[in-house]
Amino acid sequence: MKHFPLCLLLGALALLASCTPSATEPYRSLYHHTPTQNWMNDPNGMFFDEQTGLWHLYYQHNPEAPVWGPMHWGHATSKDLIHWDHRGIVLAPDSLGTIFSGSVVIDRDNTAGFGPNAVVAVYTQSEYIGQNQSLAYSLDGGMTFTKYEGNPVLMGDIADFRDPKVTRDGDHWLMTLACQQEIRFYASPDLKDWTYLSSFGEGYGAHGGVWECPELIHMGERWVLLVSINPGGPFGGSATQYFIGDWDGREFKCDDVRNAPTTNTKWLDYGRDNYSTFTFHNAPDNRIVSLGWMSNWQYAQQVPTGSFRSQNTIARDLSLYIDDAGDYRICVQPSPETWAIRGKTVSRPTEACIICLTFSGNETGVVTLSNNLGEKVTMTLDVHRQTFSMDRTAAGDDSFSADFPGVTTTSLFVHRPSYTVYLFLDRCSIEAFDGDGAWAMTNLVFPTTPYNRIKVVGGEATIYEINR
Ligand code: FRU
Repeated sequence: MKHFPLCLLLGALALLASCTPSATEPYRSLYHHTPTQNWMNDPNGMFFDEQTGLWHLYYQHNPEAPVWGPMHWGHATSKDLIHWDHRGIVLAPDSLGTIFSGSVVIDRDNTAGFGPNAVVAVYTQSEYIGQNQSLAYSLDGGMTFTKYEGNPVLMGDIADFRDPKVTRDGDHWLMTLACQQEIRFYASPDLKDWTYLSSFGEGYGAHGGVWECPELIHMGERWVLLVSINPGGPFGGSATQYFIGDWDGREFKCDDVRNAPTTNTKWLDYGRDNYSTFTFHNAPDNRIVSLGWMSNWQYAQQVPTGSFRSQNTIARDLSLYIDDAGDYRICVQPSPETWAIRGKTVSRPTEACIICLTFSGNETGVVTLSNNLGEKVTMTLDVHRQTFSMDRTAAGDDSFSADFPGVTTTSLFVHRPSYTVYLFLDRCSIEAFDGDGAWAMTNLVFPTTPYNRIKVVGGEATIYEINR
């Protein structure tokens, strides 16, 4: 047998460890997108390129530390919305400011003059004296970007003036922009000249914090306006509310009654850890495919994940349904691509698995996930109150923030004779979905060792391992 010098062996081991972060980072998600290192928040500028079959994801990124700082756009691509290739940084701060959230469109008709099929990023530049909107274009399918020399294209007139989501509306571009606690709409023929159309927000929904990351989506027969808010979420910190209504090309008219109690606010997710949800531009088959940042501004910079912080949710397809009260709501379902990772059935939960729960509906169902240390998450489907709740008060490490422990609850919205609930477990997250998409609940958890036991009362569980 050959003998290798010790330093070579140690070097090889160190290299191996750096290539397989999951081996050394117990909270590194196994099937969710995470940054290789340092800080990430909002997903930005997501689009699907039918030429290459690639899903592009950009994201708010501080490459210098695992906390928020000078924002860049990081980039990752995927063929299946599960495995992500890290592509590095595409937009870095310049003399106009750091690079905040924004969106990407494919300019098929070259309206901006950057070239046919240019991939154009519209993003906020943030500096001490204000926030403005800028452009950058890519002529290589979103891999590299050149900043437009005429930046900024839309100057802010108030302190919070950010997160442009641009879509095509008939023969022009439409920008949805967060402005303090309102959403403003702007139109442009060429992505460069923007005309103010209208504002929405006063007297509607939750106003416990600043409005951020808006998106207007044509969904079936209605229009949906997603609005993230921080703080002011239903369980503290950040969350995403939404409004359903009509868009007449100028104005958004909400179906809700103005100044309705904020208890009527509709939330995209009834957990603590799904913020700044955006959808992919140009998704195939007119699907509405979304990703959210799986954390909460209350404690995102303190969570014990190590050299990186934050992960995105699994991809979710959005549509509309009508609840028992006759109201439209967003139906949230794991995207079909996500189901592709469902492997064979196993008898115990593992650090990453999918659990399909069926509840008889005759009695309250209680599901407990726990580990050898007695750390546990308890989920209850209460047939009397018609609610589902998740309790993470004893889930594991919560020493990093007094805001972290807690219970989240959602109405079931639709009464059924029996219920199915899907749980997507990864190393530090649980995403729960009503089987028909009536509600979703996303919560982070930091068990000291993985949950390896499950107890179900009033129902049954089938556990699937993850095919990776
Ligand atoms: C939302 C947000 C955006 C902003 C970005 C900065 O999480 O505050 O409004 O553009 O993060 O990183």
